[in-house]
Parts: sequence; structure tokens; C-alpha cells
Amino acid sequence: MKIIMLGAPGAGKGTQAKQIAAKYNIPHVSTGDIFRANIKEGTALGMEAKSYMDKGQLVPDELTVKILLDRVAKDDCKNGYVLDGFPRTIPQAEVLDEAVTKLSEKIDYAINVDVPDENIIRRMSGRRACVKCGATYHIVNVPPKKEGICDACGEALIVRDDDKEETVKARLATYHEQTQPLIDYYSAKGILKEVDGTKDMNDVFADIVAILG
Ligand code: AP5
Ligand code: MG
Ligand code: ZN
Repeated sequence: MKIIMLGAPGAGKGTQAKQIAAKYNIPHVSTGDIFRANIKEGTALGMEAKSYMDKGQLVPDELTVKILLDRVAKDDCKNGYVLDGFPRTIPQAEVLDEAVTKLSEKIDYAINVDVPDENIIRRMSGRRACVKCGATYHIVNVPPKKEGICDACGEALIVRDDDKEETVKARLATYHEQTQPLIDYYSAKGILKEVDGTKDMNDVFADIVAILG
């Protein structure tokens, strides 16, 4: 099964994608997580990506597309994957379509996690992330057992550099301008599914499972 998660920054794409990956036994592929891992390692790719991410802008398509295609070509993606944060532009979606069609395969679902902008800013200020294993917390909604420490791997949690209010506003503007058009793109292909991302995260997941079967 090949699934795309659509939605604004902070809509809960990552939260839901992790659960989908676990239940359906497919890898969770997040371009944002790949960039953050590279930033942490101090790679050239990471340094370049950071200069865009810190401004709330998209990393250029050429760079992003290459990383994604390399990742989904790996063995563990043979039976499918859940993409979180890719595609984010129409050209990215077209490259993905081309790659999948070349293998005589198809994307099964594009799930749009719908959350209004007002809710987003509130959520982001409470988010804490583990850069080591990718786990995500929220100081009120999903607190870790021990403050500031990842339940899964024990690493110290961080506030993402791009979760400052000004940057969140820029990310939302970028989303509306460049990523939201993908809703119509996948709707036209007949694979778009909408879920209400303002619900409790377990209810959102139940709605997704009802779609995926
Ligand atoms: P990326 O890492 O993809 O960030 P994003 O899209 O801005 O999304 P987030 O990870 O912030 O949010 P999310 O939807 O995953 O929500 P989460 O589950 O964490 O990208 C970062 C940057 O990298 C981009 O800005 C861009 O620069 C670059 N980039 C990445 N991919 C790219 C691409 N394809 N092309 C170009 N550039 C790219 O949830 C958020 C918070 O809310 C958490 O604290 C969570 O616990 C909480 N929460 C989740 N669900 C609920 C709920 N139902 N109720 C209450 N709280 C909830
Ligand atoms: Mg995410
Ligand atoms: Zn961790």
C-alpha cells in the first residue's frame, strides 16, 4: 500500500504516519525527518536544507526529489510506504507519479489531515521532538513520561528551530501557496480522502483505518 499524507505544518501528518506505518507494516518516509537527521550530522545537504527550513520556505525541488526517490528505491519500500511531507509541490507530485508509473504501480491514497490555521499555531508551540528516533510529543497533549526526555530512546527532546511563531506563520503561508493545490491534484485522480485533524489523535487514526481497511 502506498499512502501520501497531506496537510498543513502541524496538522498531525507525522503523528498519524507513524501509526499507519506500525499497523500496516510499511516504512514511514518523512522528508522533513531526513533533512533534520542531515542537519544533526552536519552534512552539506543538511546545511543547505537548513537555510530554507529556518525561513519557513521549501527546500528546492531538485534536492528534495532526489532524496525521496533514493529512499523509496530501498528494499524496505517494496511493499509500499507512507509518505509524510512529500510531495509538497505539483512538480514533486509529478515526479513521484512518473516514478511509480514506471514500476507499473500506483499511489493508493492521499489522505488530507485537515486542521485550520488557528489551531496550528497553538499546537506547534507545545511540540517537542526527538531528533534521534523521530518521536514527537506535545507538552500538554502528548507529554513524555519524563520531562524533556524521549520515552522511546532516552535522548533529550528539542524544540524544532522552525517552530518559532514567526516561522510557523511563514510555513503556513508557504503551505497555502505551494502545497494546498495538491488537494485538487489528488482529488482529480480520485484518490483523495479527507479526515478531520482537529479531533483527538486516536479518533483521527480510527478515521484513517476506516479508510484504509
Ligand atoms: P516537515 O518536517 O514535513 O514539517 P511540516 O510539514 O511543517 O509538518 P510538521 O512536522 O511540523 O507537522 P506534522 O503535520 O507532521 O504534525 P505532527 O504530527 O508533528 O518539514 C519541515 C521543513 O522541511 C519544511 O518547512 C521544508 O522547509 C522542508 N521540507 C520537508 N519536506 C519537503 C518537501 N517535500 N519539499 C520541500 N521542502 C521540504 O503534530 C504537530 C504537533 O501537534 C505535535 O506536537 C503533536 O503531538 C500534536 N498533535 C498531532 N495530532 C494532534 C491532534 N489530533 N490533536 C492535538 N494535538 C495533536
Ligand atoms: Mg512532521
Ligand atoms: Zn527518541
